Amino acid sequence: MGIPAKDYTKVNPDRMHDVTQNARKLSIFYTIEVELSRLIGSWVPRVSGMAEKLALSRILYEDADHANHIQIRLLELRLTEKRVDEFRQRTAPCFTTLEHVDDEVAFMAGLFRVVKPALLADYRRHIEACPPYVDEPSVRFLRQIIAEQEEHIGKGLSLLADRGITWADTAKMEAQLRDELWDLTASKGNLTDGSFVGKNPVSPPRPTWPNGVEQLPATADMPEYPGTYDGDMQRVVHDLVFSELEAAEIFALYVYEYHQCPWQFHWESARICWDEARHVELLLNVLERYGGHVGQFPAKAPGYEEFMHLQSPVERMIMVSVIAEGEVSTDTQTQHREAFRKMGDDLTAMLKDYEMADEIVHGQFGRRWAKSLAEQLDVDYDSAFKAARAALSKFKAQHPDAKGGSQIPLVRLGADEEGSKRTVNITAKKLLGYSDEEIDRLVKKSGGTTIEEKTV
Ligand SMILES: [Fe+2]
Ligand SMILES: [Fe+2]
Repeated sequence: MGIPAKDYTKVNPDRMHDVTQNARKLSIFYTIEVELSRLIGSWVPRVSGMAEKLALSRILYEDADHANHIQIRLLELRLTEKRVDEFRQRTAPCFTTLEHVDDEVAFMAGLFRVVKPALLADYRRHIEACPPYVDEPSVRFLRQIIAEQEEHIGKGLSLLADRGITWADTAKMEAQLRDELWDLTASKGNLTDGSFVGKNPVSPPRPTWPNGVEQLPATADMPEYPGTYDGDMQRVVHDLVFSELEAAEIFALYVYEYHQCPWQFHWESARICWDEARHVELLLNVLERYGGHVGQFPAKAPGYEEFMHLQSPVERMIMVSVIAEGEVSTDTQTQHREAFRKMGDDLTAMLKDYEMADEIVHGQFGRRWAKSLAEQLDVDYDSAFKAARAALSKFKAQHPDAKGGSQIPLVRLGADEEGSKRTVNITAKKLLGYSDEEIDRLVKKSGGTTIEEKTV
């Protein structure tokens, strides 16, 4: 008696996977999802369109999440952690080609017209060969992956069509890329060992931003505030849009770079990238409600520039995730939320409160991973922390302050992160694991203004 097939439309109902076959093919999918995540991480700062950046940030998280599901299943199928780590150190040429191509349209076309459709076809073939009963744990998440990959392809193709890119425009590049795909039927998937996306990262010193946005270096003067209520609100929200955008771009680079970290780190980084992209979206909504638009003012990426400027992987992680996110941003978001509330804008205050919840998770991420990376690289955490704090202060001293006064509570907050305008969110700091002494020190430094959150 043959193996019972559940679905008689299967191409090869007799070719059910045994555990080894299943693990072998899933390991190829794992490499592909990891490489996709790194590749997309490298491109979030490099694509120019806002719609592309926001869509790619979500896709980045979902692909990183696919890799996470597959990793869990691979360990269940009796693979060792060491073997799984090795699967993150191999690639197919299509990925490194798309990493190094210098044309964003070629990247988008390659990703959505070649790589993802080929992956979708392989997932479908794989699921058709999953044995009944025993492999349902794989089938369950593979169905979700298939649905998300279909959505990614649809979204990507629509973005290309919106830009007026025809199917013929990228045909030659796509043909080359098709020759560089993996092969699910080959024993090791035709993957190259020892090479992978991000092995020698090529991140740009400044992100590429939408056409029509004048990007200034961090040290340049910004124009004065317009001086009217609407103008000042538009200006401050416009600044916030770009500070969230540069955060999404930095966390995308966390996925692209830092290959020495375990996948858990990249998976969490990808989620933060998507969080920041959603913060951009909420602020675009606020900007629109206040009558503003993207490109109305020049914009700067000081956080991104600082991140690229620092060489030590531990110091840059401390600077962004421990100081800027955990220590400062949990307070800044609280103050922004309260300012909107005072102005009677309850919708924005509610959106900001969600953002604050995200910031606590981002700060917890920073404290956990910066310490573990320091340990892994044998770096003294306290010295790295001091160096990061010093680098940040030095860089900040070069940033001119925004000019022009305003009586609007939100605008008045400015960038005064250390002084008397700072309100310390005690509840957030406790959730981040700060000791009472550390909290006291922060409160003293800020002149004693504090806030405690109501919990449910
Ligand atoms: Fe954010
Ligand atoms: Fe954040």
